[in-house]
Amino acid sequence: MAIRKIRVNDDPILRKKSRDVTEFDERLFTLLDDMRETLAKSDGIGLAAVQVGVLRRAVVVDLGDGVKELINPSIVESSGEQRESEGCLSLPHKYGITVRPKTVTVRAQNRNGNWCLYKGTDLAARCYCHELDHLDGKLYTDVLAPGEKVYFSKDN
Ligand code: NI
Repeated sequence: MAIRKIRVNDDPILRKKSRDVTEFDERLFTLLDDMRETLAKSDGIGLAAVQVGVLRRAVVVDLGDGVKELINPSIVESSGEQRESEGCLSLPHKYGITVRPKTVTVRAQNRNGNWCLYKGTDLAARCYCHELDHLDGKLYTDVLAPGEKVYFSKDN
């Protein structure tokens, strides 16, 4: 495993659309293992492949109950609304209040290609929406709540 460099700020790759994963092979496993290690060494809860420079639809999330690998994910159900603070490993030291669904259900493949469902509420729902947006070149700054601006944190 290896820690990969996280792309930040105005790196144009962050605005590109990722392609579906079609090969569930060693190359994918290495990418996922590296993403897990990179996420573990960061202070984030999710990382999309594009953030380490790979335009494939793969995401890892760590919500405290074990790392999940989401491949070719999509939101199949969402309900409610929340307005909470959000940050991104690709936008260091910045935060903003976004509007997201309160609860989402995500359908995704695991590294073996099997389809699974993941339901998340509150922080988990924000995380899933945020990471899936990365796969379409979107950042949380695109979904700020009305009247909100990106702000810099004072503590890091
Ligand atoms: Ni992010």
